[in-house]
Amino acid sequence: MNEINRSSPVHPFLDGKPKRMLIDGKWLEAASGKTFETINPATGEVLARVAEGDAEDVDRAVEAARRAFNGPWSRAKPFERQSLLLKLADLVERHFDELAALDTLDMGAPISRTRGSRLRALGMLRYYAGQAVSIHGETIENSLPGEYASFTLKEPVGVVGAIIPWNGPLTATIWKIGPALATGCTVVLKPAEEAPLTPLRLAELCQEAGVPPGVVNVVPGYGETAGAALAAHRGVDKVAFTGSHLTGQKIIQASAGNLKRVSLELGGKSPDVVFADADLDAAVPGAGMAVFANSGQICSAGTRLFVERKIYEEFAARVAAYGKSLRVGDGLDPNTQVGPLVSAEQLDRVTGYLAIGRQEGARPLSGGERLTEGDMARGYFVPPTVFADVRDDMRIAQEEIFGPVISAIPFDDIEEVITRANATSFGLGSGLWTRDVSKAHKLARAIRAGSVWINCYQAMDPAVPFGGYKMSGYGRESGKQHVEEYLNVKSVWIRTD
Ligand code: NAI
Ligand code: MG
Repeated sequence: MNEINRSSPVHPFLDGKPKRMLIDGKWLEAASGKTFETINPATGEVLARVAEGDAEDVDRAVEAARRAFNGPWSRAKPFERQSLLLKLADLVERHFDELAALDTLDMGAPISRTRGSRLRALGMLRYYAGQAVSIHGETIENSLPGEYASFTLKEPVGVVGAIIPWNGPLTATIWKIGPALATGCTVVLKPAEEAPLTPLRLAELCQEAGVPPGVVNVVPGYGETAGAALAAHRGVDKVAFTGSHLTGQKIIQASAGNLKRVSLELGGKSPDVVFADADLDAAVPGAGMAVFANSGQICSAGTRLFVERKIYEEFAARVAAYGKSLRVGDGLDPNTQVGPLVSAEQLDRVTGYLAIGRQEGARPLSGGERLTEGDMARGYFVPPTVFADVRDDMRIAQEEIFGPVISAIPFDDIEEVITRANATSFGLGSGLWTRDVSKAHKLARAIRAGSVWINCYQAMDPAVPFGGYKMSGYGRESGKQHVEEYLNVKSVWIRTD
């Protein structure tokens, strides 16, 4: 394995040596000896070579996770699991800027955004620390003749296979290992091949925090090999997956062998509805950043922008102007507001949709083409794009693009927009902008989606559940329900007469 020549280190984690995987507390090469490259999407430069795990490594990791689950970890008291999570939170806090920079380097998001996830990342770890000491069953009265006591116990589900995407590696990793540590599960985490670095650095911090060997294992590799092996593995009790609905469908099939539990946080085509009575000065940047943030690479991005017809032209033009005002560039530049797309593959996908939009007759008000001037040519930059004259049946109004692309669609009245907003196979996020409380209440109930944001977008908190309706998946992350997803319920009966 060649070491990468690096005259000036860009990041302390990037020392030029190939990154190994964490199995059973040991940093190992892949059994095959293979590695893959992870690149910086702003420059196309190779950041590091990473051990390429496959089925054999997944086997080893699952065995280690099983041993750890059956070992002393199963007797760790809630209080111990809580203090482990709090220690990890403190370490993440101490190293936060370094972790944020690693996310930016590996997947491109602006440093203002990755640093801005600080409160949420730390909040999640500390929330799960609280949940660790809040797990409880119930004493339930029964009506059997004779005397029986009945109560429930909550037990960790076991070995969790966590498969995460690349659009927020740090928070995605925390979102999987947080509830696992809180409940006493063990984890084998497979990062996305596009952005494996932050999960590996976080695994180092888990070790430093004192997470026992085998409790958290990280096996980087490709989806079709390492990911598929993990989803199908009979030694895995639950798969927690975040990614595309197509892969979600494969995960369900792969899980059938041992009927493991599955939770799926998938994509969307979320509606964002702007009424003429809204505070438009707030709605313009709100609706803009609902899609342009993270270059549109957010599962709940509000990509179908429904605008009341009497303000449609003006509002769409204002969002386009707002998009044009955003600074596109290398995420490491503190002034950057929109970074590159994560990979050449995603660039092809998104520019493909830009072409489809034009062919379908949509009118680009801003953006619409890849940026190639100067240094931009090295990276995968697409500027904020607003398409006007979009019809509901166009592919750009139906399919997840996962780029900074808004499809602006006019509507006339509230009943109509409810029907049209719900006319999608997805149901993850949704937004609406209005000063009218009745409209707000009506839509909040009528929209078939896991989250409704009113006069805001993308508000998230570790205590508030997040997840999908319809083809956006099932299961919830954040909140008490998230922890329940990692627990089994056991009913205990005692005859007492
Ligand atoms: P993907 O769903 O293929 O990848 C997500 C994760 O699943 C990665 O870790 C990948 O290695 C793994 N994976 C892939 N195939 C697998 C398989 N057969 N078995 C088990 N694991 C597998 O998504 P990808 O290819 O990165 O992006 C494609 C599209 O998916 C995007 O354009 C976007 O529309 C959507 N997406 C949605 C995300 C979300 O947050 N809901 C995140 C990433 C992508
Ligand atoms: Mg990368």
